[in-house]
Amino acid sequence: MRVETILVPDPGPGEAVVKIQACGVCHTDLHYKQGGISDDYPFLLGHEAAGVVESVGEGVTDVAPGDFVVLNWRAVCGQCRACLRGRPWYCFDTHNARQRMTLADGTELSPALGIGAFAEKTLVAAGQCTKVDPSVSPAVAGLLGCGVMAGIGAAINTGGVGRGDSVAVIGCGGVGDAAIAGANLAGAARIIAVDIDDRKLETALTMGATHTVNSKNADAVEAIRELTGGFGADVVIEAVGHPETYRQAFYARDLAGTVVLVGVPTPEMKLELPLLDVFGRGGSLKSSWYGDCLPSRDFPMLIDLHLQGRLPLDKFVTETIELTDVEAAFERMHHGDVLRSVVVLP
Ligand SMILES: NC(=O)c1ccc[n+]([C@@H]2O[C@H](COP(=O)([O-])OP(=O)(O)OC[C@H]3O[C@@H](n4cnc5c(N)ncnc54)[C@H](O)[C@@H]3O)[C@@H](O)[C@H]2O)c1
Ligand SMILES: [Zn+2]
Ligand SMILES: [Zn+2]
Repeated sequence: MRVETILVPDPGPGEAVVKIQACGVCHTDLHYKQGGISDDYPFLLGHEAAGVVESVGEGVTDVAPGDFVVLNWRAVCGQCRACLRGRPWYCFDTHNARQRMTLADGTELSPALGIGAFAEKTLVAAGQCTKVDPSVSPAVAGLLGCGVMAGIGAAINTGGVGRGDSVAVIGCGGVGDAAIAGANLAGAARIIAVDIDDRKLETALTMGATHTVNSKNADAVEAIRELTGGFGADVVIEAVGHPETYRQAFYARDLAGTVVLVGVPTPEMKLELPLLDVFGRGGSLKSSWYGDCLPSRDFPMLIDLHLQGRLPLDKFVTETIELTDVEAAFERMHHGDVLRSVVVLP
């Protein structure tokens, strides 16, 4: 990774230039860097960001210069079959900026998730800017733009967690912890955190977990069943992205329960399950992209709940760093030392 001078065009029709104030370091940035997402190098990394709109192009009415916004990667089109059926959180044709940002020599950049916010300014589609209460800290707000929203939404949108439910979350990194915080917000009575790292389990308790299981030393399925009267949890959220932890999630849920896969698998991973168990246990097996969120609905609401002290978003920020420290932050992420490192720009 290198810090380079880039050229950001003036916003065209439907576009906005945003002055970035903070941007979290996410696993997906590392996947881009390693070529796990596409070969369209050079990438402009960074996508969990908040900042202030600097200028907007023709026809933009929803945001204006000076607005404090969280950037999202689900600018819904309003025209595709999901949008037309009233399910815009599944939009199949989301918008990004049409113009390209470039290196000084004209080489076109591929912005991560259509955002590219490890930069002082970035160009996005105006619909990627979601206005929220400006009294929140940018470092905290930006995290809603990806992993934290994915986790909270996996619980409250995809999993439909409600008052009194039992919930288990397998994998308690940033995404799993956000699922725990979401389940807590939704009124779950019992929230079981499962991880193989005791440090992660300690943090999970501060996010609202009521019980913890270290699955290095214990059978996760047995432990979750024991903590739920022998039955299993109503909703089990898999936040690792591995067939083995998915299998645990599948068998650790109660009959007619729900499994939510939010962890992202790699192309070679395969899952084998007795079809009779899939049928006989009933319920639903779902996957969750970006927490099935609708940014315009969910971001302002979650920021408001945070400002009221009901959602501890600030606990996801382990450290704030400078733009030149991202490489080192990838290293700390790899070793499980941080939930989120957040680049703060002057
Ligand atoms: N679906 C989405 O929209 C979306 C969005 C962002 C991230 N993700 C994915 O969510 C997953 C988690 O992301 P993260 O940022 O929290 O990563 P992370 O690395 O911070 O957390 C992963 C956690 O899983 C734990 N773990 C690893 N193996 C385990 C096992 N066998 N059993 C139990 N726990 C285990 C680790 O100790 C760690 O705490 C990743 O796959 C990421 O790509 C999905
Ligand atoms: Zn659409
Ligand atoms: Zn991300």
